[in-house]
Amino acid sequence: MVAGNWKMNKTCAQAAALAEELVKGYRGEGAEVAVCPPFTALKCVKEALEGSSIRLGAQNVYHEDDGAFTGEVSVPMLKDLGVELVIVGHSERRQIFGEGDALVNKKVTKVLKSGLTPILCVGETLEERETGKTEEVVRRQTIEGLKGLSEREIGRTVIAYEPIWAIGTGRSATADDANGIIGYIREILEKIAGKETADTIRILYGGSVKPANAASLLGQPHIDGALVGGASLKADEFLGIISTIPERR
Ligand code: PGA
Repeated sequence: MVAGNWKMNKTCAQAAALAEELVKGYRGEGAEVAVCPPFTALKCVKEALEGSSIRLGAQNVYHEDDGAFTGEVSVPMLKDLGVELVIVGHSERRQIFGEGDALVNKKVTKVLKSGLTPILCVGETLEERETGKTEEVVRRQTIEGLKGLSEREIGRTVIAYEPIWAIGTGRSATADDANGIIGYIREILEKIAGKETADTIRILYGGSVKPANAASLLGQPHIDGALVGGASLKADEFLGIISTIPERR
């Protein structure tokens, strides 16, 4: 899977124009492709994606259906717009908006129970990496994020390992390193959800993925795809990343 996280970028018209370029350029083979525009552009992008196999995702959601939650958006609202995937617990949500593991778990649970696919993001800060805490952080975020879910539900989740120091910095993890941590996430998953789930669950890498490094990252045995930020805002770069997939699968 290759998913584009457009973050807080693009008006409706700009988002639709980008989606149209992707529809023209994506030949449909290889990777499952999704784009996650801001809430305000979901409807325009859905229309632009009409007839294409590119799927629509959102960048966040709240875990209640409706009510007094000023500024929030619910799963039924997203479903109404044709959204199929939802990014949950992105490091920017965790760091800038103070989302903790308990809230992330409520959101993942809600998304799964509603039949949508969550992309649960986990990853360590630079300080955590330098003090040898990467595994501890990734283990906690994975276990807490998936708490209370059945093996089947866990199997329907997509996990994105995104080391925070690699996001938007141009400094990606090495393919070996990313593969190692994602392999470690599979070991954790095996303990909480069994070997079959651990082997088949999709785990993406995110953090400065570009056409130039995509083939080596996505060529790793444990890495099932990419969550792409900056490079997903340019059709040629995003398509370039997607095109590295058919060569190996
Ligand atoms: P980046 O962002 O590709 O710009 O590093 C990745 C992400 O935040 O999902």
